[in-house]
Amino acid sequence: IAKRGFDNVIKNYRAFPEDRDEFYYGYFPHYFIWGVATAAYQVEGAWNEDGKGPSIWDTFAHTNRIAHNETGDVACDSYHLFQRDVEMLQELGVDFYRFSIAWSRVLPDGTIGSVNQAGIAYYNRLIDALLAKNITPMVTLYHWDLPQALQDRGGWKNDEIVDLFGEYARLVFEQFGDRVKTWITFNEAYVISWLGYGVGAFAPGISEPVDGVYRVAHNIIRSHVKAYHIFKDNFKNKYGGNVGITLDIEWKEPLTDSLKDAIAAERAIQFKLGWFGNAIFSGSGDYPQVMKEFIAEKSQRQGFATSRLPEFTDSEKEQNKGAYDFIGINHYTSNLIGNKPNPDSVPNYQEDQDIDIKSDPCWGVTAQDWLKVNPWGIRYILRWVKEHYNNPIIFITESGRSTEGGLDDPERIYYYKYYINEVLKAIKLDHVRVHGYTAWSLMDNLEWTTGYDAKFGLYSVDFNSSSRTRVPRASAAFFRNLTIENGFEE
Ligand code: NOJ
Repeated sequence: IAKRGFDNVIKNYRAFPEDRDEFYYGYFPHYFIWGVATAAYQVEGAWNEDGKGPSIWDTFAHTNRIAHNETGDVACDSYHLFQRDVEMLQELGVDFYRFSIAWSRVLPDGTIGSVNQAGIAYYNRLIDALLAKNITPMVTLYHWDLPQALQDRGGWKNDEIVDLFGEYARLVFEQFGDRVKTWITFNEAYVISWLGYGVGAFAPGISEPVDGVYRVAHNIIRSHVKAYHIFKDNFKNKYGGNVGITLDIEWKEPLTDSLKDAIAAERAIQFKLGWFGNAIFSGSGDYPQVMKEFIAEKSQRQGFATSRLPEFTDSEKEQNKGAYDFIGINHYTSNLIGNKPNPDSVPNYQEDQDIDIKSDPCWGVTAQDWLKVNPWGIRYILRWVKEHYNNPIIFITESGRSTEGGLDDPERIYYYKYYINEVLKAIKLDHVRVHGYTAWSLMDNLEWTTGYDAKFGLYSVDFNSSSRTRVPRASAAFFRNLTIENGFEE
């Protein structure tokens, strides 16, 4: 472990460093489940078939915002090839398949007045095909593809979205709740907010980092809470099932062993995971105290009449508290966080945090600049979630790395082996209640603005052939063995 590049970082293990490097032989609990994930826009294609309405990602791609001007128009063509996908899931031997519903495939204009039966029928076919093979569906309601018609009304910035999302969720629960028992309202609320409305790198490409981004996040939290209560009040008794939200978070390791950096790293987690998680999971029903203080103080200094961070009403806080059955965590990588006091910062979510984000040169690299390989980070963030959110049931709803192609992918095998071993340590040594692990992804797919170059699949997909032929990589066999063995035999 004493090879991490910065001398000052070496001293910086916060806790339990003893077994950081030791491989843990043993097995996952009998209730632990294994799966793989995809998302509608990244795999389905059929962007305008059978009555589907356009989404903000269709619009974004069609205005050349994706590398090499690629689009999701066909993608993996799973709309037509889902039977092959189910076959692959069987080959992998997974317990569940996490996929998302395209809102504009079931409601082309986003509202309940426009139900598209052909869209509903597609998801029925997929769900039934999974169940016929004993594969449990885990369904995400929103994996970033807002109906364009709703974006035209302001999207997540318009408060009306909360009720519209509620109606969409109700429809989906009604239609599929007899067979789907695990629901994820949102995938990566942070990415929707910050990349979509802060920097504008992702659809809808809006850049309002001063306060628009905070209003978007506020409406996403309200929408999750609304959907959670709709399910609980109307469907839970009838069908059974559980509702959670998936949040993305790196492990944030302090840059040095100074107390200031340790506090900054904690603040960085609160500003990202806590931004959404605190209201739902911490028991307070509200934003993290540190966000409220920092943003209020900066807003005042910057001449704003009120804080740029919106407030929940008391009754909203009551509704927020405990609005979950589980938490979904997408975890890929780690950062180093330093303290960076900035009394003259400009009003901007990123600047509001007074942090500096770096990477440890000893972490493994990938072709994606943001994705460094640091297995023990996953154990640390799991422990953080346990400690701050009252020991919830956790599903790792995504984790994985990209490669640049080929069927032989030892880098991906390394990633899964060591990350999953750290998950096992979190369960066995730290008693974190992790109930499942999901590999991203079942197959290569459209990696958003990076296009088709970043290959995250256990299966490769030939995007040059019209049949979109899927072939397993070496990692597929590795993942299959690991999940069937349910752990690591000495
Ligand atoms: C998280 C997102 O949910 C998923 O859509 C994306 O492809 C992976 N990360 C990899 O970047």
